[in-house]
Amino acid sequence: MTILSEKLQNKIRDKEAKIGIIGMGYVGIPLSLEFTINGFNVLGFDKDKKRIDDINEGKQIMKHIKQKDMADFIANDGSATNDITKLNEMDCLIICVPTPLDVHEQPDMSYVEAASNDISKNMRKGQLIVLESTTYPGTTKELVKPILEKSGLIAGKDFFLAYSPEREDPGNKEFSVSKIPKVMGGYTEECLENTSILYKNIVAETVKVSSMETAESTKLMENIFRAVNIAMVNELKLVLSRMDVNIWEVIDAAKTKPFGFMPFYPGPGMGGHCIPIDPFYLSWKAKEYNTEAKFIELAGEINRKMTENIAHRIGKGLNDDAKSVRDSKIMILGVAYKKDIDDMRESPALSIRELLKFKGATVSYHDPYVKNINEEKSLELNIKNIKNQDAILITTDHSNVDYEFIAKHAKLIIDTRNVMANIKNPNARILRA
Ligand SMILES: NC(=O)c1ccc[n+]([C@@H]2O[C@H](COP(=O)([O-])OP(=O)(O)OC[C@H]3O[C@@H](n4cnc5c(N)ncnc54)[C@H](O)[C@@H]3O)[C@@H](O)[C@H]2O)c1
Repeated sequence: MTILSEKLQNKIRDKEAKIGIIGMGYVGIPLSLEFTINGFNVLGFDKDKKRIDDINEGKQIMKHIKQKDMADFIANDGSATNDITKLNEMDCLIICVPTPLDVHEQPDMSYVEAASNDISKNMRKGQLIVLESTTYPGTTKELVKPILEKSGLIAGKDFFLAYSPEREDPGNKEFSVSKIPKVMGGYTEECLENTSILYKNIVAETVKVSSMETAESTKLMENIFRAVNIAMVNELKLVLSRMDVNIWEVIDAAKTKPFGFMPFYPGPGMGGHCIPIDPFYLSWKAKEYNTEAKFIELAGEINRKMTENIAHRIGKGLNDDAKSVRDSKIMILGVAYKKDIDDMRESPALSIRELLKFKGATVSYHDPYVKNINEEKSLELNIKNIKNQDAILITTDHSNVDYEFIAKHAKLIIDTRNVMANIKNPNARILRA
């Protein structure tokens, strides 16, 4: 073992290693909390000054992370800064910045590049640098490493480099960061070993793979698996609904098979920062190798079409009441992309909202986790507001919504999440969508 490795491993073992988390968002914050809970000193780096101030004041940033946990983070020696010169004081740096698609639906690597440049200008020998952002195979070696080496330091010799994808599922009460096995690939064996030693402090299991590209591909495969299966079940829903077969009942029956089947559920389309975006990182990279990832493209196409299909279904529901979408009052119930969180990124509810407005409807929304969308406030779920709607569209199945109350007072409900399945004697007409 080299002296640099020995020094780093000793510091990690004695919990004296300082951990710098770059990008204090949905991934960076829970990760930071986990390190402080386990006795490490954490400094979060972010470009957003307000976020830094909120973190340092112990404020709640995300609905699914309690204010007390944020206060504990500060009490446990955690803090945040935008002073990038402090990157030099860190022993381990973990990059958790966004990896969106640009306007041409191509990977936007500008955040990863910016974070790598900041590190490059402020790094020193012996640091461990791990990329966690979801990305295409080759990013850490082809993009991050050359930027870091502009410092004059050499990866695998002067500093340690690895890729370890985040598998965080915000709002999932069963699997928090510490319970999810962590996959990792290192630039060298030593880089991998040091990464594993670090993460073993916060997760139950580390899964070492042979290269950074394997670790990068593993994360993409997990998300592509979800995207393709969601598309498949969405398409089946469209096919089966024509035959008047209830897809939800079919899934419930199919999942009684004790092997070889995993349930996925239909919905209004794909949302969030991962599933609608990450698969396209691979299909983009595939083109460089003169090959295609057809499943990914097809899944994207089907999932995007769901939005139009839901709008069409609302039109049909209103038509049966001798109404048109134009001039109808429609409330969208749930604008977060999934239940029990406040994240609206890529939420299909927002596309449906735009489409309905475009068709001339008067659209409002209610979401217990999203108080406003720009100027528009979440409409209170009271009898008057419910009765006032020509249709209510359920796009997110938040647990803290009283669906029975809605079924009692609404005229027409279009349910994309099957939350109305068990409501007995609803006054509203309910359409599965
Ligand atoms: N949200 C999830 O559920 C999830 C799950 C697994 C993986 N991921 C991946 O993790 C990465 C981060 O996603 P997220 O959801 O946490 O994003 P986010 O938008 O919630 O947070 C990113 C943070 O990084 C900050 N930032 C941007 N550029 C920066 C820079 N140059 N230096 C310092 N800070 C910077 C932003 O201000 C923001 O606070 C993405 O690659 C994403 O695909 C996300």
